[in-house]
Amino acid sequence: MILLAIDTSCDETSVAVLEDDRVLASVLATQFDLHRQYGGIMPSVSRRAHEENIHGTYLEALKRARKDEKDLDYIAVTQGPGLAIDLEVGIRYAQDLAKRLRRPLIPVNHMEGHLLSGLLRNRAGKLFSKGVGVDIGKLTTTALDRIFPALGVLVSGKHTEIVYIGGLGGYTKLAYTLDDAAGEAFDKVGRMLGFGYPGGPVISEFAKSGHLGVVELPIPMYRSKELRFSFSGLKTACLYALKKHDAEDTAGDKRQYVADFARQFEFSVVSAISEKVIRVLDALHGTKSELNNSLDFEKDVQSVRDAISTGCASGSDAVSPPRAIFAGGGVINNVRLSGALSRIAKRYKTPFFLPYPRFRSDNAAMIGLAAYLHILYDGEEYALTNAEDIEKVERIPRLSVAG
Ligand code: KG4
Ligand code: ZN
Repeated sequence: MILLAIDTSCDETSVAVLEDDRVLASVLATQFDLHRQYGGIMPSVSRRAHEENIHGTYLEALKRARKDEKDLDYIAVTQGPGLAIDLEVGIRYAQDLAKRLRRPLIPVNHMEGHLLSGLLRNRAGKLFSKGVGVDIGKLTTTALDRIFPALGVLVSGKHTEIVYIGGLGGYTKLAYTLDDAAGEAFDKVGRMLGFGYPGGPVISEFAKSGHLGVVELPIPMYRSKELRFSFSGLKTACLYALKKHDAEDTAGDKRQYVADFARQFEFSVVSAISEKVIRVLDALHGTKSELNNSLDFEKDVQSVRDAISTGCASGSDAVSPPRAIFAGGGVINNVRLSGALSRIAKRYKTPFFLPYPRFRSDNAAMIGLAAYLHILYDGEEYALTNAEDIEKVERIPRLSVAG
């Protein structure tokens, strides 16, 4: 089946064409240059850029996929989460397209897209994720049942979550952030260091030549009672550390200090995420490994069990250890984070689906994939076919991946 997918949830206008799980084209009109001058995303500016770019991006995606619009079988679009007025542009465009071409419309949860992005394949049918260690063959429901239940680690600009994937569409959050997301912390600290938006990639680049132990920063929620993240305290600690440095030191190599600072900040974020991933994995396996530093392992086990039994991780009667680990979201581009997660997966002898770099940040290919998998699992009824239902699809800016 040929799917056209659209994502305008944030600052990229993205359109992709897929044949089943294979990406034929994935086109991105990025707005970084527009937002850099404001130091963040201005929704009204973003909306105008989406409106200007969407038609051209659509035509370019068809051209690169070597498809005509008559070849399209389904139109998929991000419904949420995201910036309300930006989501609207993609939804409106998709609705018009679905009605004009008389094709079904599939509304998709953006975070589900990130969660499953490690399953995307190239035009030739080869999995983009490398070193997974299992050959799941063509994506069929039976193939997917061999890797579910799975664990998802979502680290983006607005989300930091560990999600239990009981089955397709059955997700339960096992850990989430109480305040800022990791990506948000990267961007805010980037701003303090004088980098434009987004700060994440610049900090990661600086960190490569930095050293640990020069700057003192906490690891947020380290050995916390609850399986939760929090990054706003780290952000404040960064602000104080920078102020103290500015007040005290003027003679040192400023560039090296920024690199050391970036390295320590990156270490704090990666350690905070890894620690919780390990605790959740151990809780799911029911055994405490030597990597685990939890102060109350039984509590972790109970909290994970309670979440799964009250959540909607359908397809899992009991708590089973994950058969695969998925990662997704822009912050996964940080090589120390992806490296840490990959090593953890190896320790637990669990296949790790790391999305190809261009499918980690926002993209429409992952939206097409999520739509495809739902058609595969849930059948045609998942897609909206009559014009009235298509018309009713509305943005859901705060849509959650679970429940
Ligand atoms: O998934 P994404 O593209 O958009 C959301 O859905 O939020 O994630 C964007 C976030 C931004 O905060 C950006 O700074 C961060 O991903 N990011 C990075 C890197 N590349 C993007 N953070 C750290 N290191 C990177 N290399
Ligand atoms: Zn995203």
